[in-house]
Amino acid sequence: MAEAKTAKVTVKGKEYDLPLLSPTVGPDAIDIRKLYGEADVFTFDPGFTSTASCESTITYIDGDKGELWYRGYPIEQLAANSNYLETCYLLLYGELPSREQMADFHKRVTRHTMVHEQMHNFFRGFRRDAHPMATMVGVVGAMSAFYHDSVDINDPWQREVASIRMIAKLPTIAAMAYKYSMGQPFVYPRNDLDYASNFLRMCFAVPTEDYVVSPVLSKAMDRIMMLHADHEQNASTSTVRLAGSSGANPFACVAAGIACLWGPAHGGANQACLEMLREIGTVDRIPEFIKRAKDKDDSFRLMGFGHRVYKNFDPRAKVMKESADEVLALLGVDDNETLQVAKELERIALEDEYFVEKKLYPNVDFYSGIILEAMGFPTSMFTPIFAISRTVGWVAQWKEMLADPQNKIGRPRQLYVGALRRDYLAISKR
Ligand code: SDX
Repeated sequence: MAEAKTAKVTVKGKEYDLPLLSPTVGPDAIDIRKLYGEADVFTFDPGFTSTASCESTITYIDGDKGELWYRGYPIEQLAANSNYLETCYLLLYGELPSREQMADFHKRVTRHTMVHEQMHNFFRGFRRDAHPMATMVGVVGAMSAFYHDSVDINDPWQREVASIRMIAKLPTIAAMAYKYSMGQPFVYPRNDLDYASNFLRMCFAVPTEDYVVSPVLSKAMDRIMMLHADHEQNASTSTVRLAGSSGANPFACVAAGIACLWGPAHGGANQACLEMLREIGTVDRIPEFIKRAKDKDDSFRLMGFGHRVYKNFDPRAKVMKESADEVLALLGVDDNETLQVAKELERIALEDEYFVEKKLYPNVDFYSGIILEAMGFPTSMFTPIFAISRTVGWVAQWKEMLADPQNKIGRPRQLYVGALRRDYLAISKR
């Protein structure tokens, strides 16, 4: 019997043995659940930089090696050999599907791509210039007002249906938000198209002429979706888990995840990055922006650079960069100024001691916007596409949390540094 591993913590002269938990791979974790009860102390970790919130079997990242695995499969191998819907199956059920399992899963998702016809009315309540993420937060949250037969989180069948519904309907809702912003009619999904092609057609087809999905764009979109599908306990996934820990219905949890993803430090970085590349405009202006990014007194950061976990290349950025070259060449826009600025910015930053010392590398958001812009999307649709892609990660992690016997409502503590107890003072005496 292997000796139980423990960590010794001394608090105010008294020593405590805390269990040391060992993962399949990655750093051990000190189990501090007894610490407050035994030693009357909390731990303090703003931003949870060193704190594991759960056990998970879904995704693993090695930030130093720049590795990302979905259920143990390296992202590079999945990007080269799989597709988004097969990756969804893998993330949801833990294994790659057989041909029959894949056919059944594809049919189940495809049959759920339409939204309730009355949901069309929701869009009419928004301004045409509403950001599509604002629309998506609202409409996805409102799904719990329509799909009453899949909101009971204690019913495994309902959890499964809700998960399939969200994976299937997010592209339809995002495309509707895009169409609404342009004053064009909604385009219904089609069951004869694959997941990525269906989304592209719902975004770019118009009633007045046929729209044939380019296989190049469809493959690039499918790959972008795969690269964004899941990523351990990132901010939006942690938001979905925290919302789910209270027993909130799945649609409300994913709406909370969409809201969190919108931030420019997270999923909103792809839009912010392309806008930054446009602001830089030409290669000769790059040094000015590098200087600003290094200036402590300037809030400007290089969007698409840096990561909480990756202290080496984000493996997704490498695949995305290859895709950018491929797609822009096939679209005949490889002389794209934005791409040239991005490549030169990456080269200069990676040679600059500030970025080297702080281990700041391009992340998933650095090249994705260049591809999406070349495909014809406005920057406002970049984060909605991230949200579509991440929905499978959110629901897979949400299901895992609900099935976890250790699951309990999330409720962090705090370090109170405010006023001591004091008595109320009448206004006449202030
Ligand atoms: C995503 O968590 C995930 O997995 C997220 C994600 C996913 O798939 O879910 O990977 C998706 O959100 C990718 C990240 C997209 N965000 C951006 O590209 C925005 C720009 N990046 C930064 O805001 C920042 O790098 C974060 C938010 C991504 C990470 O921030 P951390 O981990 O809190 O790191 P930090 O802010 O403490 O930075 C460490 C140092 C700081 O300098 P010091 O205070 O130590 O002197 O690096 C500096 C920062 O000022 N720094 C940057 C920088 N990022 C960090 N300086 C210039 N430009 C940057 N981009």
